[in-house]
Parts: sequence; structure tokens; C-alpha cells
Amino acid sequence: MASWSFWFDLVVLSSLIIADRVCAIGQSNCVAFKSSSATFSVVSNGKAAPVFLSADEWPGVQRAAVDFASDIQQVTGITPALLNVSSSSSFGSSSNVIIVGTLGKSSLIDEVVNRTGLDVSSIQGQWEAFMAKEVANPLPGVQSATIWRLPVVLCELQVGRCPDYETFRTLCNLVGMFAWVTHSTISRHLSQRRAAALQNWAMEKFTNGTGAALTGSPFNHFSTRKCLNSYFELRRITYGQRNGAVAFSQRSAFGIDDSQDQPLADWWGIVMGTSHEEPIMRSTPVEWDLFGSGPWDYGVNAQNIYNFWVEGANRSKTFENIYTIGMRGAGDLPLSEGQDIQLLEQIVSDQRQLLTDVLNVSDITTVRQMWTLYEEVLGFYEDGMRVPDDVILVWADDTWGNIRRYPLVSERNRTGGSGIYYHLDLVGPPRDYKWITSSQISKTYEQMSAAVARNASRVWVLNVGDLKPYELHTEFFITYGWDASLWNRNNLDTFVSSWAQREFDISIQDATEVADIIANVTRWNARRKPELLNSTTYSLTNYREAENVLAGWESLSNASTRIYNSLSSSMQPAFFQLVQHPVQASYTLANMWISAGINNLRASQARLSANNYATQVEDLFLQDYDLEVDYHTLLNGKWDHMMDQTHVMYYYWQQPMANTMPFITMVQPKKQALPGAMRIAIEGSAGAWPGDNMYDCEQGYSCPNPSVSIDPFVPAGNRFFDVGAGGPTPFTFTATSNASWLKLSPAKGSISPSSPEQRVFASVDWSQVTGVESAILTFAANVQDQPPMSQVINFVANHTVVPSGFKGFVEGDGTVSIEAAHAARNTSVDGLTWVELPGIGRTLSGITPWPRGGDDRNFTAGTGPSIEYDFYIFNTQNQTGNIPPLAIAMQIDSGALQTNYFIPPAIPGEYPPEWSGNDGWVANSIVTVPMDFDVPPGAHVLKVNGSH
Ligand SMILES: *[C@@H]1O[C@H](CO)[C@@H](O)[C@H](O)[C@H]1NC(C)=O
Ligand SMILES: *[C@@H]1O[C@H](CO)[C@@H](O)[C@H](O)[C@H]1NC(C)=O
Ligand SMILES: *[C@@H]1O[C@H](CO)[C@@H](O)[C@H](O)[C@H]1NC(C)=O
Ligand SMILES: *[C@@H]1O[C@H](CO)[C@@H](O)[C@H](O)[C@H]1NC(C)=O
Ligand SMILES: *[C@@H]1O[C@H](CO)[C@@H](O)[C@H](O)[C@H]1NC(C)=O
Repeated sequence: MASWSFWFDLVVLSSLIIADRVCAIGQSNCVAFKSSSATFSVVSNGKAAPVFLSADEWPGVQRAAVDFASDIQQVTGITPALLNVSSSSSFGSSSNVIIVGTLGKSSLIDEVVNRTGLDVSSIQGQWEAFMAKEVANPLPGVQSATIWRLPVVLCELQVGRCPDYETFRTLCNLVGMFAWVTHSTISRHLSQRRAAALQNWAMEKFTNGTGAALTGSPFNHFSTRKCLNSYFELRRITYGQRNGAVAFSQRSAFGIDDSQDQPLADWWGIVMGTSHEEPIMRSTPVEWDLFGSGPWDYGVNAQNIYNFWVEGANRSKTFENIYTIGMRGAGDLPLSEGQDIQLLEQIVSDQRQLLTDVLNVSDITTVRQMWTLYEEVLGFYEDGMRVPDDVILVWADDTWGNIRRYPLVSERNRTGGSGIYYHLDLVGPPRDYKWITSSQISKTYEQMSAAVARNASRVWVLNVGDLKPYELHTEFFITYGWDASLWNRNNLDTFVSSWAQREFDISIQDATEVADIIANVTRWNARRKPELLNSTTYSLTNYREAENVLAGWESLSNASTRIYNSLSSSMQPAFFQLVQHPVQASYTLANMWISAGINNLRASQARLSANNYATQVEDLFLQDYDLEVDYHTLLNGKWDHMMDQTHVMYYYWQQPMANTMPFITMVQPKKQALPGAMRIAIEGSAGAWPGDNMYDCEQGYSCPNPSVSIDPFVPAGNRFFDVGAGGPTPFTFTATSNASWLKLSPAKGSISPSSPEQRVFASVDWSQVTGVESAILTFAANVQDQPPMSQVINFVANHTVVPSGFKGFVEGDGTVSIEAAHAARNTSVDGLTWVELPGIGRTLSGITPWPRGGDDRNFTAGTGPSIEYDFYIFNTQNQTGNIPPLAIAMQIDSGALQTNYFIPPAIPGEYPPEWSGNDGWVANSIVTVPMDFDVPPGAHVLKVNGSH
């Protein structure tokens, strides 16, 4: 199917007015509901304009026209006539008609074009192009004076949330077009290994408990057919029309699971492909294991493998495909050693000959093919392997959403062009991530906008695994692929708010808040993927990190719950799936891990309150399951199994076989701790007093009294001390200081097993402190039936002062921490400037040189665009900077410029060692770039300079 077009026009419906809801996000509408008769009416006065096609039209277009007619019926109650006509003479006396057709395929459309001289240059010869036009007197045989309007538009896509909003979906079809359509192709991950939840769901919904005869796969034509509630409909919604699906099938094989799948995909207008490891439309290992003979090794078994591929080409030759060429080892692994570039080049050459023969083409360059530079294959490319110019080169990310390499200028003029393979979900090291949404739209935009700027947009493949958790993100990827010009770094939130308005029918205020909620839940899940969390991911002792993380989740949970409660019961299920559940489930998981950390820490400090956290972990562990059940029982089990993915307690990179609770422990509640009834823990330390603790001092016993310091720039503005029970004996305590400038609140309290902790805050009246002053702080306890006990703490206040007039960032708590966007000065060079990328990264935002494409420029260090930060320090120290991932030069004041090529060279096709591991770059979602500068006290400028 070369360019295909749907031809009809403005739909003017007499009595329906609908709210201004955007169905295809960012796209302008081609259909409206109006009472005016100024434009072409699809339905007016109870009559629908007939829809005409040509009998020689593609079957997929015929099917789409049926959908369209049915959509008109659902919206208006009036069914338009739908007719195949062989020539213009069949029109009869209709005055208003809708003609739908494919240029160069529909004889009807070609006749109109011939007669009217309609300019079709914008779609001629294009893939996925369309136009809509109202045309007067399009064909002979029209007697009426009525102006014939021949509307032309591709209005085919099904969008929205179904079947809950069947009518709404239909309205969307008419009002908002082109959602879910793109040049991209989308992975279909069907395997047990890859997508257990989707697999389980489809097995329940579309089989009688048994999968396909040969493969055991649940993906059959029932799933394919069943409208709206079916997997394929989900896929149809997800992929839209004229889109692609890429089958990646560890345990499933698109070609043989159900013989009706391939024709059905074609009928739906879906261009099929197979993934990077499955050449010539045949799955490996499933099909190879069933039908292949000998080893999956072209070096020794070429003929058998060749014959195997012949079948893949034969089976698919009547459908529209993109053929994957090349070869990987079995099981998505590198080819075995000794299978080198020469052999791969032979493989590609044989595959092209095979396609030429089987498809019976004279010119192989007319057959769409792609070669994915995945993992080690990029290494082959870097080592010099090339495929013919007409093959699409698909550049891959590092499986963690960072595109490894974009085409260079010299690689951008290939006739096959380039594409991208991108992950939202992963099975692989350092850890799987596939449970819940954890990718930021801002990050995907940052990566894919660079792909657009570098012409890598012929094919985009999205690895989305279980699909359901990534609906929003998938739609963004597709929408961005469809028309990248609509989206920029500053309007990504409006994508989400428009989506929220469409899905939940909420006010713009609430939709804006949903955008904020989605930004936060994905940001926080992207800092470390939920699967990578453990009990010490967030510091339990420093900067109140764990507490701040939990406070953020709690307020996010409240915000989401408020909106959820405000929705009608018909809207709540959708909101639950898309917003409320991800927030609650992520919050529960984070809370469980942090609670486990607090339990472990407090137990090590002999604090009775550890036991309360043990209970809390158990409760949250059960709540985690309850939330899963809530999801699965929604809408009578419509999405049963979609949250089956295990996600608690990974032991290595691969998913655990069951969720298991984080390790917790208990303090003996019936017996007092060795040092007595009262335990004191201080902010910033994992130690505890009185008594011994490995963190109290270096030797871990007979330690001196603890010391705490504060300065006016400590972010929290105070320090805290926890007074806790060291066993069953109750006590009362007082907190006193010998300095009038030190305030303690509360200054006394009662501790008992039922109320085992009291936090006491210490703050300083800085007007009374000059320079460095010390105070003695005493916690004294009156213990039931025991002698009184006390603990003394040294408290040091350091009244640091910034010279008046200084504007910038000031050292507090020994560090200076600056958001990248909070620069004092920004200097452009040759039109290139550092700009903010809102939303990206762990906290506020990121910065990058702009405009896109400018990064093809080479600057020597110090000559590129720069950005400057003013800061003030009180101590001589070595500063360490955490810089966004770019080759970077930094300078303090006019000191020596330091350049850091912080992505070290790696063996072609491999990652630098720092990439991997549970504490590596991708696990921590950051590349830390330490640079040392000797800087005296005082005010300074940090200058950051991009370089290559
Ligand atoms: C359109 O016109 C061209 C030449 O002008 C002719 O070859 C072709 O058959 C016409 N097509 C139709 C459908 O009338
Ligand atoms: C399941 O069983 C029903 C009733 O026998 C049958 O109609 C249907 O086709 C079966 N579905 C599959 C996928 O075999
Ligand atoms: C593509 O561009 C590069 C450099 O820009 C040039 O060397 C090469 O010959 C070009 N290739 C084609 C096929 O035009
Ligand atoms: C999202 O996070 C930001 C930064 O922490 C916070 O200011 C904002 O209130 C949060 N939004 C919601 C809805 O919780
Ligand atoms: C948590 O994970 C980090 C990163 O792998 C690791 O350094 C740390 O030891 C882990 N903490 C615990 C308690 O296992």
C-alpha cells in the first residue's frame, strides 16, 4: 500500500455540541459538531452522507470504512450507506458524498484526481500520508446544482478508553484524528519471559486455558478480533492504523500462534516486523526450536537456516512487512565467538537474495528491510561492517532509555535512512524494570528530539512489554513520532494535561495537577527503578532524604486521591489504572523499603520503636498485594493479571519468582537494652547513645559524647535528636542546654512501649551567636524504679556570614548544591545556548545546548557556549560537581579549565564498566562527574562549558 488516503471532509452534525476535548493530543480536529450548514455535512437533518469506496480498494481500507460508518452511527444514530462503486455512474443522485480511497489504488479516487486536477503532491508516493479535501463537481453524472463536496481526510483512528467510553471513543474518532499513528513501529512483546502479565491476561481472556498448539501462546485471533476488550484492540488503540507492530517472541511466534494473525494484522493495516533477533519474519528461538534442524549457527548450518528463512518470507510475502536482516545468537544473545563480520555480511547478502527470489522482485531496494544495531551489533558496525544503503539502520538505546549513538552527518544521507529502538521496559541487567511506569516523558523527549534532529526517524521501535503500565508513555512516543514539530521542551506537560482531560473529563486545573502527579511519579520511579529500591537507597541519616522522599509520596498520594474521589464512578476505573494505582503502588513500595531501613537501623541502635516499623513493613507488604487485587478486579476483571509482575526483593537482575518481604528484624521487647531505658540518636549519624555502636566513633566503643554542628545555611534550619525507649521500662525526660541561643522543642516528654519515640528539634537564635560557639545539651531521664540517667551532647553553632551584596549559592552543611537551571549567566556562541529541559532528571530539570543539531559542532574546551553559577564557600575545600551527561569543561573563576571526558571509551559494542552494576550509571540514573578544584574561601563563579 503506497500512500493511502481517506477521503471525506468536515462533519457537521446538527444538534450535538460536545465539550472541547482533545482526542488526538496536539492534533487539530477535522470534524466538528455544529448547527451551521456552512460546511460539508456528514449528518444533517437525519440523513447521513453515503460513504463510497472503490471495489479495488485495499481490504484494510474497506475495513476502516466500515468502522467509520459504524462510528457515525454510534454518534448520531444514523447509519450512512457504505457502498463499493465500480464507477462514477453508480453515484445516482446523491449530492453530498464521502469518498474514501487510496491514491493509485482506488480507481474512484484516481478518476476524481484526473477530473478535478486535485493537487495530491503532498501525499503522492509517501508512506502514511493522507489528505482531506472538499471538492466541487468531482465526477460526471452530477446533475444537481448542489455543489458536490468531495471530502478528503484520513479519519480512521480509534482512540480513547474503551469500552468504558464507547461513545466517547467514537466521538474521538470523529473529532480528533490521528492519535496513535506514527511512523514508528512498536514492539509486541508476547513472551512469558518478557511480558508475563500480558501473557496471563490474554490467556485468561482469549483462550480456554490453553495456548496455541505449537507454542502455547495465548495470542490468537480471538484476542486479535475481539473489539475493544481485546488485546489486538489494545494494540490497535496503541498502534493506530498504518502503523507497525514488531513481534518479539521468546515464547510466542506471530506467524504460527494462529494462522489468522498475520492476515488480520494486514487487514488492520498494521505493518508487521520482527525484532532485532528474529530475521525474515520468523521467531527465534520458538520457531527455530520447533522447525529448525541443527545449530542456530550460520557458520556451520547455513543451508538449514536459509531454508528456515525462506519459509518466513513465503509466509509473509502477501502482507506488508519490514524485514529484519542480520542475525543474533539464539535467545537474544550475541553470535557465538568466531561468527564475525565477514559471516554476518554473507548472511545479509544471502537474506537479500532470498527476499529477491521469494518476493519475486527485480529490485531488492524496493523491499523494506531493517538492521538493528543492538548491543554487540553496534560493535560490528563500529568495526566497519556495513549493510546496503537501502536498509534502514535502527540505532538502539542502552536498554535504559539512553540512545547509544545517533547517526553522524556522514551517515544521514543513506537512502534507507535511520530509526531508533527504544525501551520503556526491560528484561536484563543490571535489573529488570517492567512492573510500573518509570520512564519520564521529558527524558524520552530529550532522546527522541535528538533522533529527529539527526534524521533517525524512519522507523521507531518501542519496547513496551506488558503495555498496560505504559499506555500514556506509549501514546506520547507515538504522538511525538507522528508530528515532532508539535512538541517542544516547554509544552510536554500540556501533552499530559490534554491526555488527562480526554481520559477523565476533568477541569483544566485538575488536568494540570494530573500532569504534575505523572511528572512526579515517573521522576521518582526513574531515580532508581522500583525494582532497584532497597532499604538504604534513600539515606536514613543524612539530609532527611528518606523522610523527604516519603513526604513527597504522601502529598502525591493525597493529590491523586482527591481527584480520584472527585470523579464519577464511570471515570474512576480509568483514573485508577492510569494515575491512582501507579501512585499508590509506588508509594507503598517506597514506604515499605524505607520502613524496612528504619527498622534495621533502629534495631541496630537498640530502639524499641524498630518493632513498630517491622509491623509497618508487614502491613505494607500485604497492602502491595491488595492494590494489585484492586487493579485486577476492576471492571469485573477486565485487566486481570496486568499487575502480576513481581517487584519486591530482587536477588539478582532477573525477576524474583515471588514477591518476598524486605528483611526486617525485632528488638526484644521484654528486656531492657544494656545501657539503660533511654536511647538517644542524633541527626546525621547511624550511631546511638549511651552505650556502644560502631558508628559512635572510629573504634566503636568507649566513644566520647557526640557532637552536632549547625550553620545558618543548613537547609532544614534545625537539627533533631530522637529520644527512644531501650526496652519495656517507661521514663520521662527533659532536654536542657546551657546556652540561651539554643532552643529545644519539645523540652520534655514521656516514653513508654506504647509511645516509644520523641523527636526533639534544636534551633539557634543566630542573633546571639558570633562566629563559632558551643553549647552543652543534656537529655536527662527519670526512669521508673531505676536510677536517673542522662546523655550529654556538644552542640556547635557556626554563624557563617556572606558579604552583603552577594547573590548566588552559599555553602550550607559543608556543601554547595545547585540546580542546573539556576544559573547566573548564560553565554551563547554561534547561536548555541544552554537551555533548560524542564522535568528531566532526579530533581528539578536539566540543561542542554540548544538548538538541536547544534551538537554536531565541535568546540575546543572553553570556546563553546557556557553557563555560569555564582557560589560562596566558607572553607577551603575540593569541590565536586555532579554534571549532566555531556563531555564537559569546568572552570572556577579564571582558574585552570578542566575537561572531563566522563564517558570513557569502551570496546565497540560494549558499555564502559561504570555503566553496569547495582550502583552504576543506569541503576542510579546519573553519571557522576567528580572534578577537584582547590578553592579558597569566598565568592566564586563556576563556569560550565560544553565541549566535544
Ligand atoms: C487518469 O489520467 C491518465 C492520463 O491522463 C490515464 O492514464 C489514467 O487511466 C486516468 N485514470 C483514471 C482512473 O481515469
Ligand atoms: C473456548 O470454548 C468455547 C466453547 O466451547 C469455544 O466457542 C471457543 O472457540 C473456545 N476458544 C478457544 C480460544 O479455543
Ligand atoms: C553522504 O554524505 C557524506 C558526507 O557528508 C558523503 O561522504 C557521502 O558520499 C554521502 N553519501 C551519499 C550516498 O550521498
Ligand atoms: C511534585 O513535586 C514537586 C517537587 O517536589 C512539588 O513541588 C509538587 O508539589 C509535587 N506535586 C504534587 C502533585 O505532589
Ligand atoms: C542497597 O543497594 C545499594 C546499591 O546496590 C547497595 O550499595 C547497598 O548496600 C544496598 N543496601 C542494602 C541494605 O542491601
